[in-house]
Amino acid sequence: MATVLDGKGVSEKRLERLRETIDESGLDPRLATVLVGDDPASALYVRMKHQACERVHIGSINVTLPADATTSRVVETVRRLNEDPEISGILVQLPLPGGIDEEAVIAAVSPEKDVDGFHPCNLGRLFSGRPRFAPCTPAGIMTLLDEYGIDPAGRRAVVIGRSIDVGRPMAALLLNADATVTICHSRTADLSAVAREADILVAAVGRPRFVTADTVREGAVVIDVGTNRVDGKLVGDVDFEAVRERAGAITPVPGGVGPMTIATLMENTFAAAGRQACGPAP
Ligand SMILES: NC(=O)c1ccc[n+]([C@@H]2O[C@H](COP(=O)([O-])OP(=O)(O)OC[C@H]3O[C@@H](n4cnc5c(N)ncnc54)[C@H](OP(=O)(O)O)[C@@H]3O)[C@@H](O)[C@H]2O)c1
Repeated sequence: MATVLDGKGVSEKRLERLRETIDESGLDPRLATVLVGDDPASALYVRMKHQACERVHIGSINVTLPADATTSRVVETVRRLNEDPEISGILVQLPLPGGIDEEAVIAAVSPEKDVDGFHPCNLGRLFSGRPRFAPCTPAGIMTLLDEYGIDPAGRRAVVIGRSIDVGRPMAALLLNADATVTICHSRTADLSAVAREADILVAAVGRPRFVTADTVREGAVVIDVGTNRVDGKLVGDVDFEAVRERAGAITPVPGGVGPMTIATLMENTFAAAGRQACGPAP
């Protein structure tokens, strides 16, 4: 039976530690969120981020713009936050409503304040092996592996999904940690056979219970990024009950990757404040 990787517990512990570090630092980190439109899920995520800020003594502000805001208005808002010395980190809640050029908005965020790690400059640094801010979900997964003493070096890692927010940066982080990495996607031939080679299998597909027991190698570490609503219940991309019989370690949904994402956002925001206090990064 697999060890359940307790993302919730680890994130609680890290948030406690972070609060103490912030209190002792003399710094005054502050996160600005930008919420465009009135999507209830996005509003909920933003509220959760502000709650986490409060917990660790990071100041936070939110700027709300209407769903029909133009790209230039959103970009202008982001630029104002870039120039505000009181703001350490900026998070634009994605997805943005249709009609807004998401790429232009992401590119407008100062790379120094890009605590989500989506700016092309930060993704480039990540892929060249010199990360500054890595996207919070994959970076949180790396922290979780580390907390459980799971070293990816020399292991075969398979990431299912190639999105810019999860799959691709996940692969880059695993590669930077010396894993041998394969990325699968919707055009991968015989995905199950590829996945079965994995010592570390990350599922970021967005399809409920996509990964079944026969897709998993005995003893593998299985990381479930998926958050899917099925009959009002949150389920992952992994068939948890069946896969836990075969895997060596597995993250639950909820309580696995999700809490690590928020903890990492807090850590990135504090890191941004630290860097800004020390002058411009090289
Ligand atoms: N817990 C968290 O903090 C957190 C954070 C972010 C995301 N998530 C969740 O993680 C999941 C993935 O998110 P995402 O943003 O990466 O999603 P996404 O942008 O929709 O990407 C999904 C990826 O899965 C691949 N895929 C879809 N169907 C497939 C199939 N039948 N076989 C193989 N590959 C397939 C797609 O391949 P193609 O590229 O070929 O289309 C794509 O690369 C979602 O459930 C999301 O809600 C959770």
